[in-house]
Amino acid sequence: MEKKIESNDGVIVLKNIAKGFSRNVVLDDVSLAFEKGKTTVIIGPSGCGKTVLIKHIIVLLRPGKGEVYFHNQRIDNLDEKELENVRTKMGFLFQGGALFDSMSVYENILFPVKQHTEIRDRKKLNELVKAKLAMVGMDGFEDYYPAKLSGGQKKRVALARAIALNPEVILYDEPTTGLDPIRADVINELIIKLQKELGITSIVVTHDMNSAYKIADRIVMLHNGKILIDGDAGAIKNSPFPVVQQFINGQVSEKDLKALRQSIEDIKISDTQ
Ligand SMILES: Nc1ncnc2c1ncn2[C@@H]1O[C@H](COP(=O)(O)OP(=O)(O)OP(=O)(O)O)[C@@H](O)[C@H]1O
Ligand SMILES: [Mg+2]
Repeated sequence: MEKKIESNDGVIVLKNIAKGFSRNVVLDDVSLAFEKGKTTVIIGPSGCGKTVLIKHIIVLLRPGKGEVYFHNQRIDNLDEKELENVRTKMGFLFQGGALFDSMSVYENILFPVKQHTEIRDRKKLNELVKAKLAMVGMDGFEDYYPAKLSGGQKKRVALARAIALNPEVILYDEPTTGLDPIRADVINELIIKLQKELGITSIVVTHDMNSAYKIADRIVMLHNGKILIDGDAGAIKNSPFPVVQQFINGQVSEKDLKALRQSIEDIKISDTQ
């Protein structure tokens, strides 16, 4: 029997969330409480609803059914104006990094600051940018434009922007995807550092099991709209479910393999026609 989750069980609580797009059911009665100061990693196959899940936390998406709570306050039914205040307390590192290409690193980091605060004093703004860049090991990159940065540097700047307003919570959507193992590990270390030094609550979506084992206090696996596993790294490694073992070992199930072979066949046929 699943434990019933109450709205004050964590800093963020998702209660019985259901979400679908037309007839595609993505989340099917998902309940999760995120404990303050802990790092929770969310894993699951591509398309299973990880991004959809974390978008509910900052109410970029609204649930079909269920409720979202932040500090025991219901937030999924707030209007955009009311949500502004909540969103200043949460940093979001989007899938793909998503810096503004037309803005320098300096302007990128100040974007949320200008949007959400009254700070306009040039000296204060400069200090703020400097401190955030130092935090992610990107000192001195203020005047660079994103086009001149590597993938790993962009992610670090995006992280500096995500912490610009000193959030309590940071949501990371695949922060290490597309990075080589060393640069991926720099991001892992930063996530750990932000948790240790600033007590930040982190929710990290990833496919990268090395990263998951390294940073997670807790790992949650989504599958077919539901939570399949919720526990520490050991619970995942020792899970009896074949889908979990296939996922963490990067194996393809027979069913997926069949579909994959079929799609390759289809390409060949259409290419020769
Ligand atoms: N705005 C939207 N409108 C319609 N369908 C959507 C929308 N956002 C997501 N979906 C669908 O919801 C499902 C889950 O998408 P989601 O982006 O959460 O997957 P994911 O687990 O993050 O995958 P990946 O690992 O590839 O990033 C997919 O079938 C997707 O097509
Ligand atoms: Mg995603």
